[in-house]
Amino acid sequence: MAPRIILIGPMGSGKTTIGERLAHDFSLIFRDTDQMIEFQSGRIISDIFIEDGEDEFRALEKIILRTGLLEDETVLSLGGGACLSVDAQSALRACGSFIVYLKISLSQVSSRVGFNQGRPLLMGNPRAQWQALMNDRAPIYEGLASYICEVDSKSVDEIASEIAIAYELRGKGVNNG
Ligand code: S3P
Repeated sequence: MAPRIILIGPMGSGKTTIGERLAHDFSLIFRDTDQMIEFQSGRIISDIFIEDGEDEFRALEKIILRTGLLEDETVLSLGGGACLSVDAQSALRACGSFIVYLKISLSQVSSRVGFNQGRPLLMGNPRAQWQALMNDRAPIYEGLASYICEVDSKSVDEIASEIAIAYELRGKGVNNG
């Protein structure tokens, strides 16, 4: 199977940073569903939410996910909600790629600079909104993951090398997800 690593997890878990790092380390191309949506629509995510609403954003996201899953040799980072629909879950299971869930706690995520910036779903009370989303989503992230990486208090180097080891082991049939 052609190499592909997919990163899932909530807003603020570091999918873009870790994805770029893994892409560099494995000589793969980095793609991010949010960036693909922004590129294709010529608008930033928060404007799409405000002008067209979440349903329209999710429709775009669905198309972009399908496109992203056609590309091999990639690290594909998914927006926090991109893996939730039944269709998305089926497509992700069927693609057979190595799926990593970046698991982070509320206390760690909320101390990150820019945690709620540009994230329409966190407007109002970001901490409470984030936790409410996670209550629904965590079981889905866990169910999809080939590997669960607890990122709390770990550096980018530590996270990237942990995932790299898990990815190599997975080639030998060892999973923790
Ligand atoms: C969302 C997460 C965001 C972005 C949008 C909705 C979500 O992506 O797709 O604001 O539903 O969790 P990140 O997880 O990359 O912040």
